[in-house]
Amino acid sequence: MAHNLLKGKKGIIFGALDEKSMAWSTALRCVEEGAEIVLTNAPIALRMGEINKLAELCKAPVIPADVTNMDDLKNLFTKSMEHFGGKIDFVLHSVGMSINMRKGKPYTDLDYDFSHKTFDISAMSLHRVLQTAYQLDALNEWASVVALTYIAAQRVFPDYSEMADAKSMLESVARSFGYHYGFKKKVRVNTISQSPTKTTAGSGVKGFDGFMSYAEKMSPLGNASAQQCADYCVAMFSDLTKMVTMQNLFHDGGFSFTGVSAEVIEQMEK
Ligand SMILES: NC(=O)c1ccc[n+]([C@@H]2O[C@H](COP(=O)([O-])OP(=O)(O)OC[C@H]3O[C@@H](n4cnc5c(N)ncnc54)[C@H](O)[C@@H]3O)[C@@H](O)[C@H]2O)c1
Repeated sequence: MAHNLLKGKKGIIFGALDEKSMAWSTALRCVEEGAEIVLTNAPIALRMGEINKLAELCKAPVIPADVTNMDDLKNLFTKSMEHFGGKIDFVLHSVGMSINMRKGKPYTDLDYDFSHKTFDISAMSLHRVLQTAYQLDALNEWASVVALTYIAAQRVFPDYSEMADAKSMLESVARSFGYHYGFKKKVRVNTISQSPTKTTAGSGVKGFDGFMSYAEKMSPLGNASAQQCADYCVAMFSDLTKMVTMQNLFHDGGFSFTGVSAEVIEQMEK
């Protein structure tokens, strides 16, 4: 059900690859709530063509940008402001990729050239996005920036590998930039720490299905879906959460604060 929570707001959504993407659901929900959006993804991801379906549904332009390329990011923010005829109210950073995981390299045998790329795409990119917006003065006062993260930033999930380190950095960037942008322009920056969700990036983690059903059994409310993540993003982009900034917000059905559940104990006793 729509509540017009984002009526008149303008946003940029990074990372919609296909229907399973968290960014895909979020784009649709934002438009349903009255926002106008620009979609962006890496040029290579755009070649798959799926995003054009979403662009049609959202009546949104697609502006390519590799998050590791400053010229692309400047072009994205400049063109988006031209398109909107003004500044931007919200940004979703829904971008992540581990090159070592893709190449099957375990955490104890990382290729550091791959790691540089992983950290650049998955973590430093948030700094790049924020710095670009800051220097172009592209965000309105009280704008809201959200990046998606995972609890492996706080606790060890061995197969999450170098992405755990990337997510720690991502969450730190959100806090640090949130400070500067908050004082300068009242812009808020937060991370949402989402349950395991079946998407292209999610399924790239070894043993993902086991991982997901374990989290489901450990969460009093069960795992949060991509749709529910989209709802939470809308809430964070709306004026109802204006005083929330520099936070890592767990959106995981209670997983993060559950030590063990009765169902998991039962299984251990079998
Ligand atoms: N799926 C999960 O279980 C889960 C859980 C918690 C957090 N997250 C995070 O959610 C975010 C979105 O992932 P998703 O699960 O929707 O998967 P996804 O694969 O649909 O999205 C990842 C996106 O990153 C984009 N991307 C990769 N390299 C890029 C680059 N150089 N420039 C621009 N874009 C680039 C991809 O094209 C893709 O659209 C990621 O940060 C991911 O780590 C996912």
